[in-house]
Amino acid sequence: MCGIVAYIGAKKARPLLIEGLKRLEYRGYDSAGIGILSDEFGLEVAKSVGRVSHLENRLKELGGFDGSIGLAHTRWATHGGVTEANAHPHRDDKAGICLVHNGIIENHSALRKYLMERGHTFHSETDTEVLAMLIGELYDPENGTDLEAAVQTALREVKGAYAIAVICENEPGVMVCARKGSPLLVGVGNEEFIVASDASAIVAHTTQAFMLDDYNVVKITREGFRTSTVDNVEIMPKVTELEYELEQIELGGFSHFMQKEIFEQPASLRTTLGGRIDHNEGKVVLGGLAQFAKELVKAKRIILTGQGTALHASMIGEYLMEDIAKIPTECEYASEFRYRNPIVEDGTVVIAVSQSGETADTIAALREAKDKGALSVGVVNVVGSSIARETDMGVYLRVGPEIGVASTKAFTGQVTVLTLIALFMGRRRVTSPERCARIMNALDAVPDKIEQILATNDEIRRITERYVERNNWLFLGRGYNYPTAMEGALKLKEISYIHAEGMPAAEMKHGPIALIDEGMPAVFIANKGSQYDKVISNIEEVRSRGGHVIAIATEGDEEIRSVAEEVIYVPGCPEPISPLLTVVPLQLMAYHAAVLRGHDVDKPRNLAKSVTVE
Ligand code: G6P
Repeated sequence: MCGIVAYIGAKKARPLLIEGLKRLEYRGYDSAGIGILSDEFGLEVAKSVGRVSHLENRLKELGGFDGSIGLAHTRWATHGGVTEANAHPHRDDKAGICLVHNGIIENHSALRKYLMERGHTFHSETDTEVLAMLIGELYDPENGTDLEAAVQTALREVKGAYAIAVICENEPGVMVCARKGSPLLVGVGNEEFIVASDASAIVAHTTQAFMLDDYNVVKITREGFRTSTVDNVEIMPKVTELEYELEQIELGGFSHFMQKEIFEQPASLRTTLGGRIDHNEGKVVLGGLAQFAKELVKAKRIILTGQGTALHASMIGEYLMEDIAKIPTECEYASEFRYRNPIVEDGTVVIAVSQSGETADTIAALREAKDKGALSVGVVNVVGSSIARETDMGVYLRVGPEIGVASTKAFTGQVTVLTLIALFMGRRRVTSPERCARIMNALDAVPDKIEQILATNDEIRRITERYVERNNWLFLGRGYNYPTAMEGALKLKEISYIHAEGMPAAEMKHGPIALIDEGMPAVFIANKGSQYDKVISNIEEVRSRGGHVIAIATEGDEEIRSVAEEVIYVPGCPEPISPLLTVVPLQLMAYHAAVLRGHDVDKPRNLAKSVTVE
């Protein structure tokens, strides 16, 4: 969603901020803007609807924007339409305040009314302009309310979520930033600071950084910084090394980040698994859970929650927890769980699954479960993210930064970690050492098997090409691969804009079968497993109504060729592990369909990488 990058130092801010905005493009946005302060030109602001490149071109035409302190923003519209007036930065009308903001100010209407009564005129429909005006209204350096104090005072009045960066014409060497609910990192360089909502905009310049905590405010000058709470209690943040390599966020020869990340999966899963399986002891080693092992083993019920792709991984988690750990488990959309006053009994463990660790609904569901006494586990990729910080314990995915908006390597990372957690609990409860060993060996073999699937990429592209003009697709699977079918449909929708539905194969007969007509593609996940024969019957039902079947099948299965037009093979494996393999051809099909239809794979329309509003 929205992205922030801000700079204060000795270099020219403009190229640095534009480069930072380009690194944030993957998060999804619809307009961009920049504000720079310089001795020669004072405060200059430029905004543009559409791509960062439009803004860049506008700046070239305008000239100026020459200073060494500035802030920039990519906006994903929430309050007010996609217009230049609504884009950030926003300014006040009195004190020379310029501000960028991620999040939502919930009491903006009341604050707007108050400020209008005090004579302020608004030029946008945004909640952010209200905050800029409020800081300006409070700014009174002659009576001790400098920029830092004005920001602190304003934030004490604000309800909602924010990450902000603020500069002021009257204090040209100062930047003030703050956070509540939305992430904000301060990169610490050599007499320069780069503030951003996402490490990807910082790592090209420095890997030393600290994350602001909720209700923290930082005042930055070229010489240093001071961190305090909104109540002005001074605090000392811990500067740490960002675990980020620049090549992780660059394309490195691939055409798109999604493609790169699909192909990265063998390597990313080797990292996810690294050191976590002890074959000698026949055990899974998860340092993050060790302290709570006793409580986890006694769990009476597990609730898995997430949104989007993370929800699909959680659905597979539901099968894994019941099958391997034998603990009653439910999986639920975080957005539903948070509002339905759920019953959380003693002995409940909530597992929040999220790539970013910042999805607003997932955070809220986690808090709801925690408030009602659940023990909480985070299955998260981004280190230090909100969910990682708010859970009692957790297991990181370790798949590296995911830039592609359509989540791929995070999905396989999530399913792998959930399998490890199920083994961690199952082995200590009821599952035989032999079964655990079989699944652990199969997990270890997954990266090599994904490599074999990736080697058939050209064939998968050719198959996709044959059907890419069709506008309606079905994805069908049973058992462990029903959620995989949902994920396959989601991938296709997200980036190729083809209408696709994923569902349990047996459910098709209860309605969706009416959609099938001559040539409609139906992708069946038909790997060898306990429900193979049933899936074959479902395939026949589609075929007899003229549908075209693309089957994801197990290597060596020749029989399936007699019922499916197209067959994509994946190596055999135990059923609980199979989604990690069957999903890979579906990711590739979605990728090829989007490219063949001429879409911008890494910037799908209307989507945001991380949805930080409900
Ligand atoms: C957005 C993204 C999806 C993602 C979902 C959950 O909708 O576009 O790709 O699966 O959010 O994100 P999370 O970071 O919580 O996994």
